[in-house]
This record gives sequence, C-alpha cells and structure tokens, in this order.
Amino acid sequence: MSEQFISDKKDFINLDDYSEDGIFELKFDSQSLGPSAVRKESLLLVVHQGQYHVIENKCGHFGVPLLNGELSGNEIICTEHGISFDLDSGNIVNRPYENCDPIKTFDSIVIGNRLYLKD
Ligand code: FES
Repeated sequence: MSEQFISDKKDFINLDDYSEDGIFELKFDSQSLGPSAVRKESLLLVVHQGQYHVIENKCGHFGVPLLNGELSGNEIICTEHGISFDLDSGNIVNRPYENCDPIKTFDSIVIGNRLYLKD
C-alpha cells in the first residue's frame, strides 16, 4: 500500500455509491475536497469491466465534456467527433483529427470499498 494515496483520509470515493458500470461525474464538496491537485478539476469516475478509472471530464479535441462518452474495451469515445482515449493512460487511440491532445488521467488505488486518488 502506498502512503501517498492515503495521506489525507478524507480524499476517497465511496465505491458503494458506484456499484453499476457507467460514467459518473465526481463532485467534491467543501467537506470533502479531494486531493489538492485535482479538487479544481471536473472529474469522471468510469466504472467499466470491473475496473475504476478517474479521468478529466474534457475531451482533448474541443473540450467537450466526456460525461456522455461511450465506452468500448479500455477506451472512452467522445461522441462529438469520435476520438477515443485510453482509460488508463489518456492517450489518443483513434485520431480522426490532428488537433487533439491526450486527456488527463489520475492514479488511484482501491482499498476495501474506497477509491483513493493520488495527491
Ligand atoms: S470534441 Fe471530442 S472528438 Fe471532437
């Protein structure tokens, strides 16, 4: 277990709230802000194929929210123009357009029913 993931005990996501597969927007309120590095980001929790992924809610193409993206294998596909991103690395998998950047992904670890984000 890496200490860097649990330096602040408030910085976790209760996975009991995300028992179904899907794409969920994460909101950090003032009581539980999440890690300082990510608390200002709009983040998504992707629950897919038994895995949890935390990614930014912004396509690397025109910044469209990925909340309504589609999941395929280990990728999220932006429905706006069809660019897909690897859920682990954020790298572009399918690039039909040149002006696109990878998306940010955030390291996490699951301990029990809690998912901790790396600070
Ligand atoms: S805005 Fe997402 S693919 Fe173009």
